[in-house]
Amino acid sequence: MQLYVFCLVLLASSVNCYEDKPIAEYIQTSDGFIFLRNLIQQVNMTDLLTKPQDGGAITILAPTDIAFALLGQDTLNSLSNSQLRRLLYYHLVPGFVLKSAIQKPENKTTYLGEDVLLGVVNDILSVNNGAANTTASNMDIIVSNGVVQPINRVLMPPPHVNVAPNSINIIQVFLMDDTRFKDIFLSLFFANLTDILETGTYTVFAPTDAAFAKHKDSILDPTRPNAPNVFRAVSVNQANVVDANIFASNGVIHAIDDVLFPADLAQP
Ligand SMILES: *[C@@H]1O[C@H](CO)[C@@H](O)[C@H](O)[C@H]1NC(C)=O
Ligand SMILES: *[C@@H]1O[C@H](CO)[C@@H](O)[C@H](O)[C@H]1NC(C)=O
Ligand SMILES: *[C@@H]1O[C@H](CO)[C@@H](O)[C@H](O)[C@H]1NC(C)=O
Ligand SMILES: *[C@@H]1O[C@H](CO)[C@@H](O)[C@H](O)[C@H]1NC(C)=O
Repeated sequence: MQLYVFCLVLLASSVNCYEDKPIAEYIQTSDGFIFLRNLIQQVNMTDLLTKPQDGGAITILAPTDIAFALLGQDTLNSLSNSQLRRLLYYHLVPGFVLKSAIQKPENKTTYLGEDVLLGVVNDILSVNNGAANTTASNMDIIVSNGVVQPINRVLMPPPHVNVAPNSINIIQVFLMDDTRFKDIFLSLFFANLTDILETGTYTVFAPTDAAFAKHKDSILDPTRPNAPNVFRAVSVNQANVVDANIFASNGVIHAIDDVLFPADLAQP
């Protein structure tokens, strides 16, 4: 069934297709995106790709299943959810990226905050000097909230990036990562520490929600007033770092799997 697919042949070599569905639904319902579809679900990006937060359009450089197969399942498995989320952010560019509109190579800033270099080589949209190319048969797929550009490789962010979008501060990282850092955000909020962490520079050992869950109903209930005690600790004793070096504009976060106890605070 092709009822809602309209393709306009604009130039002999350039085909624009319109599909009346948002990016998330397009990826869910089109062949060749099983990996990407699962990934979007795993990192909870369906909402963003259905209705961008700022109401604007998004272009997704959409790695095909072949692209993910070339990357390898082992590599995918080795990445934490927040790394996967950041990896996906590197494939999202605000606005409409249309091959036909790219006259000369240009850098576009992705949702990760890092640029991708886009150019047209041999009539194909090429990313980062040929690190990935759009698949020839699908170009400029315009959907209801942006553009899908299927690409033949997963893009790897620059080596220094193991990171959250570097323009956002520690508190904003917590807010964005609400599948892991909801409790620590609440603790900080109730302890009136969010202002401090938005302005000063810190290294934060941030217990994940799973870490807090181990101590539910204890003094560490994030909504109880002595939560600030947690943040006086400076060394990682019983906790393991589960995701190191999540960079923010004003510091770095290491996600840990248990809550740290200052020596003078009795452990429940
Ligand atoms: C894109 O950005 C890179 C890295 O900042 C820079 O070296 C390059 O010259 C830029 N290219 C264009 C076409 O702007
Ligand atoms: C992308 O296209 C360029 C130019 O044709 C080519 O040199 C490069 O090897 C291609 N890269 C991939 C990953 O297909
Ligand atoms: C997924 O993200 C949406 C916002 O985009 C949020 O409202 C929702 O709580 C998140 N779900 C999970 C399980 O984190
Ligand atoms: C919260 O902290 C800010 C400084 O970070 C301070 O100005 C403010 O008075 C505090 N509010 C309360 C209710 O303690």
